[in-house]
Amino acid sequence: MYRTHTNGELSLAHLHQNVTLSGWVQTIRNKGFVIWVDVRDRYGITQLVFDKDRTESYVWETAEKLGREFVIQVTGTVIERSSKNPKIPTGEIEILVSELKILNQSELPPFTIEDDTDGGEELRMKYRYLDIRRAPVRDKLIFRHSIAQKIRNYLSDQNFIEVETPVLIKSTPEGARDFVVPSRMNPGQFYALPQSPQTFKQLLMIGGMDRYFQIVKCFRDEDLRADRQPEFTQIDCEMTFVDQEQILSIFEGLAKHLLHEVTGKEFETFPRITYADAMAKYGNDKPDIRFGMEFIELNQLVQGKEFTLFNEAELVVGFVAKSCASYTRKQIDELTEWVKRPQIGASGLVWIKYQEDGSITSSVNKFYTEEDLTKICAKANAEKGDLIIILSGKTDKVRTQLSALRMELGNRLGLRKINEFAPLWVLDFPLLEWDEETNRYHAMHHPFTSPKLEDIPLMESNPGVVRANAYDLVLNGNEIGGGSIRIFDRELQAKMFNLLGFTAEEAEAQFGFLMNAFRYGAPPHGGIALGFDRLVAILHGNEVIRDYIAFPKNNSGRDVMIDAPSPIADTQLDELSLQIKNN
Ligand code: AMO
Repeated sequence: MYRTHTNGELSLAHLHQNVTLSGWVQTIRNKGFVIWVDVRDRYGITQLVFDKDRTESYVWETAEKLGREFVIQVTGTVIERSSKNPKIPTGEIEILVSELKILNQSELPPFTIEDDTDGGEELRMKYRYLDIRRAPVRDKLIFRHSIAQKIRNYLSDQNFIEVETPVLIKSTPEGARDFVVPSRMNPGQFYALPQSPQTFKQLLMIGGMDRYFQIVKCFRDEDLRADRQPEFTQIDCEMTFVDQEQILSIFEGLAKHLLHEVTGKEFETFPRITYADAMAKYGNDKPDIRFGMEFIELNQLVQGKEFTLFNEAELVVGFVAKSCASYTRKQIDELTEWVKRPQIGASGLVWIKYQEDGSITSSVNKFYTEEDLTKICAKANAEKGDLIIILSGKTDKVRTQLSALRMELGNRLGLRKINEFAPLWVLDFPLLEWDEETNRYHAMHHPFTSPKLEDIPLMESNPGVVRANAYDLVLNGNEIGGGSIRIFDRELQAKMFNLLGFTAEEAEAQFGFLMNAFRYGAPPHGGIALGFDRLVAILHGNEVIRDYIAFPKNNSGRDVMIDAPSPIADTQLDELSLQIKNN
């Protein structure tokens, strides 16, 4: 038997017991007459003691040979420590070792395997299995597991059943590029890896499964960011005979349950905001509502004066930065440079300071009287000591820019508190989105999303304003889920494909299987998918999802540990009827 206990469980209650432990050597302190060794496993750390007077000499000699990360097995007696460590559960005891076996040796690890490591990101990714030995990484994976478990139980209790859908499929249009897999048996043809199981879950509803869920890998070939990985996990769900309200209710229930489990707090009914309002108030369809700084549209107050920039702008919009009137020239210049960076692309910013003494000053004193500025402060509900920041330009662009600045200031001012959770629903997304590049409409969510019934007549006359029965679940400024009520009528689905620029033949070739299924009694249905990695990271007070994935990809989409992607042999290419163009 390798062990009678784990390294996290022994205490004074086990005093004088003879125990066997196994694990990795974390630290060794050799004082010449006593050697202390910390042995670690997933459960914790236990201190071992070898005492030259009390330990057999062959055991002592083996102990002297130990190195970091050696895998060992020890047997000994639980004794009380003279100097206790209150920080760890096993801190009151140590094991006086009578037998020691080295199960495996270890080379010196490339970085220290401790909570605070000296290893850089790439190095730790390359040796991810060593990184996983560190408590902060290990705890994230354990947390992920516990959330998955709670979700499974919750959904099972609500009659959802987990069904696996295939991974080698045909492209599902979710807006990103597909990863494709060549087929050896069908030369020149390719599978696509699912961007989501969207069409399959709809087919399961047509198949009468009623309530489906799956914790499922999805694959999207898109540019990576902190909250994106090329392969990520969804909690994918679909329900039959439900309206939007019922779906929101079930998944709000799930989110509240998880929030309660994590924080111990009860959450009120989640606020709801329409897409249009979210864009107007926060410039963003996933607003972080842990802090205010709502947008104030100022066209009426500022236009028609001497300031051409504002007069010519489609939208003049600002927000109040609380207690920031004390910002120095330098701080404001720095913010100005920040919004001028190419990633943000603003031409500059206008500021108004409502000083503590009640006076008002601004960067546009030349164009506006004190009375004008007072009106702006009043409209913005600014108080003494506040700073108003204003941007202007084309509506969509300026909202995006101001939203980025709002989030940046939210971070700088410490308003995005990690242990505070502010969920909300964003509703009534537009059905379509105009794409300047391709000069046509794209589905904002995906092509299977139902328009609002009352907007269907507008699909032909004014498609751009048609709203969808689509919703997003947002938590702390992150989109953690999205879903919709689906089209289940063949005619309407055909109309949708048509709006998206598919000819009848193209729609048939790509989605014939779904259109066909719609002939055989497709029930009304709808669903949602939660981004599991994001959800877990945020619930754990983090926004970088990579840390919550056991073996993640780096920013260039590479797995640096296994060194993938990588070239394949010519014979493999031949088998797959593939040729790599070298031009
Ligand atoms: P959507 O495309 O909104 O919807 O995806 C659902 C959720 O998945 C997460 N997500 C990601 N997480 C990590 N890395 C990525 N690259 C990534 N892309 C998306 C987000 C997102 O909200 N089939 C529909 C759902 C439905 O209609 O039921 C879908 O996939 O948190």
